[in-house]
Amino acid sequence: MSTPAPPELFTWEFATDPYPAYAWLREHAPVHRTKLPSGVEAWLVTRYGDARQALADQRLSKDPAHHDEPAHARGRTGIPGERKAELMTHLLNIDPPDHTRLRRLVSKAFTPRRVAEFAPRVQELTDRLIDGFAARGSADLIHEFAFPLPIYAICDLLGVPREDQDDFRDWAGMMIRHGGGPRGGVARSVKKMRGYLAELIRRKRAEPGQEPADLISGLIRASDHGEHLTENEAAAMAFILLFAGFETTVNLIGNGMYALLRHPVQRARLQESLAAGERGLLETGVEELLRYDGPVELATWRYATEPLTLGGQRIAAGEPVLVVLAAADRDPERFDGPDTLDLARRDNQHLGYGHGIHYCLGAPLARLEGQTALATLLTRLPDLRLAADPAELRWRGGLIMRGLRTLPVEFTAAD
Ligand code: HEM
Repeated sequence: MSTPAPPELFTWEFATDPYPAYAWLREHAPVHRTKLPSGVEAWLVTRYGDARQALADQRLSKDPAHHDEPAHARGRTGIPGERKAELMTHLLNIDPPDHTRLRRLVSKAFTPRRVAEFAPRVQELTDRLIDGFAARGSADLIHEFAFPLPIYAICDLLGVPREDQDDFRDWAGMMIRHGGGPRGGVARSVKKMRGYLAELIRRKRAEPGQEPADLISGLIRASDHGEHLTENEAAAMAFILLFAGFETTVNLIGNGMYALLRHPVQRARLQESLAAGERGLLETGVEELLRYDGPVELATWRYATEPLTLGGQRIAAGEPVLVVLAAADRDPERFDGPDTLDLARRDNQHLGYGHGIHYCLGAPLARLEGQTALATLLTRLPDLRLAADPAELRWRGGLIMRGLRTLPVEFTAAD
């Protein structure tokens, strides 16, 4: 029997439901060379075992300088509109030993304790956003809820004053609406954000002692006390925290709520457990939503620093490798019934937050936001339902993130 031709990737249908194409690739071409819409050729890694191995393989570098196509490497900072070297020195673009040093510094300022202290603020933000539409009986959960929540949360964490946070929301909105291409409005928004952050860092350095707990102050202290963090690295760090922690969380909340609305039995079980004051199903459930339809599809670029073999394929030095987390997390070799949403799934070591030294630094914050957002929506708006035909919902077709453009819902309006 001949093997059927590979499915077409990166089409409209693919953006709506990439999982059949990923199943084909896992089975027939688990390490598959393809041309991306940008014209760059890259290897797609779709099996769980290969993906995990690739994420931890030190011969696969995060530094775009290793790319064999220097013209593309120059533009790939990971930040839309950002082509200058200044913000290149962020965690997702560097290898040890620089990565180890910078990650250690930011981990100090980004401890699980600090994130846990943040829980009341995330709850307050969540409630305030729901208050904005609860009396109306309808909402677009992407624009009115999933989108603003993470941006305000990260601004708070960084120490961006409240009165400036709406500017951030607008700049971030520009980035998300235009899909991350380095064009016009996006580039302008990135420039404004960068300028603002540089100014904020200068201001906080000039007035030490103000808001001592915030992350930017923590980074400045680290750079001022001989811990080898340059001002530029501090700015790049602030930017990557915003960039890595924003659209991902929007999509965790959006994709997660959408999956719950499409699985009424699972959703009812979660609502019952929340009503009984339990947290267990919420915690396993948010992990399962990440596995089932996670926000990060292909964002995990790496470049071979030497020839290597992965999943039986020879990869030459300089070739880009993309670990497809969304495909690995549906691998039947690793997960029982991988296409079934099971909020109570226990054996769930998904790769939604990556693996190895670049494992998501913001995972505790993402979990806090995801759990708070979904639990509060389901508790305050218990009869929440989809107000659109699923076939008509549009997914943002991008290579990096998987997420809905809108999520219209209806519910009984609160008095
Ligand atoms: C890294 C996913 C939220 C900050 C990563 C990686 C993944 C990921 C897959 C690894 C990328 C790679 O290996 O190439 C997610 C998901 C999130 C989320 C699914 C939400 C549901 C956040 C938040 C923050 C954050 C809220 C911070 C505010 C970072 C940083 C890195 C990272 C700084 C780079 C770590 C390093 O290179 O050492 N994230 N992320 N993320 N994430 Fe997240």
